[in-house]
Amino acid sequence: MNTAIADPRLSGRAVRRIVYTEQEIAQRVAELGEDITQAYPDGDLLVLGLLKGSFIFLSDLVRHIRRPLQIDFLVAASYGDAMISSGHVRLLYDPETDLEGKHILLVEDIVDTGRTLSLLLHLLRARNPRSLEICALLHKHVASQLRQPPRFLGFDAPNEFLVGYGLDHAENFRHLPYIASLQ
Ligand code: PRP
Repeated sequence: MNTAIADPRLSGRAVRRIVYTEQEIAQRVAELGEDITQAYPDGDLLVLGLLKGSFIFLSDLVRHIRRPLQIDFLVAASYGDAMISSGHVRLLYDPETDLEGKHILLVEDIVDTGRTLSLLLHLLRARNPRSLEICALLHKHVASQLRQPPRFLGFDAPNEFLVGYGLDHAENFRHLPYIASLQ
């Protein structure tokens, strides 16, 4: 779209197209918030955002969840393929709250290979939560390594390089209010 190409936030970088507009995202995030509200009638709910990508999605999402909840974040270290088989992931920031007995909702901006989520689910399950579910804004459906699909999903995303609304390219473009596909 021409509006994206003219956007000064892109510093001249060409985008192929806007995949989800600000309005489309807002509408879908509100629906997800309603779904999540309905899905957790009781118990302690801890919303865990995986940094950095989820920070905008999470902050919009929780304002549409109409029940008590707490928020914390995860920062996971990224390792090579050798870590996949061992099933370990190291947390650079670990939630301060106890997860035991709580509903844990892990919030992710995008599921690509599924590697990040697979490793984190393994780690979080060991802490005996009451339940453990994923809320992802985008899912490319190329994930071969993810056995537990997101219970709450915003959009089935095209297999393109997406930026904006938290998603980056070399740490740029996270602040775009829409999601675009880079050239
Ligand atoms: C991106 C994205 C997801 C992950 C998805 O994070 O935010 O967390 O990759 O890819 P996967 O399904 O193949 O594991 P990244 O490691 O780029 O860090 P960021 O969240 O700080 O951008």
